[in-house]
Amino acid sequence: MKKTVITFKDAKQNGEKLTVLTAYDYPSAKLADLCGIDALLVGDSLGMVCLGYENTLRVTMQDMLHHTKAVSRGTQNALVIADMPFMSYQASVYDAVKNAGSLVQEGGAHAVKLEGGAEVLDAVRAIVKAQIPVMGHVGLTPQSINMFGGFKVQGREREKAGMLVEAVKALEDAGAFAVVLECIPKELAKEITKSVSIPTIGIGAGAYCDGQVLVWHDMLGIYSDIKPKFVKSYANAGEVIKSGISKYINEVREGIFPGDDYSY
Ligand code: KIV
Repeated sequence: MKKTVITFKDAKQNGEKLTVLTAYDYPSAKLADLCGIDALLVGDSLGMVCLGYENTLRVTMQDMLHHTKAVSRGTQNALVIADMPFMSYQASVYDAVKNAGSLVQEGGAHAVKLEGGAEVLDAVRAIVKAQIPVMGHVGLTPQSINMFGGFKVQGREREKAGMLVEAVKALEDAGAFAVVLECIPKELAKEITKSVSIPTIGIGAGAYCDGQVLVWHDMLGIYSDIKPKFVKSYANAGEVIKSGISKYINEVREGIFPGDDYSY
């Protein structure tokens, strides 16, 4: 069944957990979609796990469009959410609406995600006014890494925690259909989840969120440059891939592949 923003609304009302996974290309989208994932997030994390950057700041609109198009082509049922990359919405509300529009019109996304609280409310309102659903993202927002001084848990101090609660309420008022809570204490995530009627999607935010999101390469054991505490490996695909490639190399070197079965 096709998943939409109404699926998100209904899930929160019915107390059903939402499942979100990142995806960056056609085959990964197709596999996750076949498994019945609710939403695929074309995260700007692609800068790290696909392009080898040390953070997400160098990801461009061109990068996001390229990957969003591939994910859309591989998806039949999941809601496709495209991340708005650094500097695609911060400089002006006009940029925000135009770039969100491109991710939907050219990329084929159903919704966009952007990072931040009070500072992005005008952009969120304007994008929603243009009939594009927006997912918020607060807590450890990787595009602010230079302000945070690194990838660190956010909202541990009472004052900062209060600001996060207010930020999510304001995002709901501005029209966001859901919000990602990244790397915050689980009790704070619980408080936020109880105080809004839009679903909270956690990553490193504990079990009380309305849903969870993980990065494809992290949860399948493919990317190991950074391994945060919240990442659970559900498969060791990196080892499976390495073993397949090693066998291929050996068989070619030993003249085993291609035998008659693989020749014309
Ligand atoms: O870019 C991304 O993959 C994200 C998730 C970690 C939520 O924003």
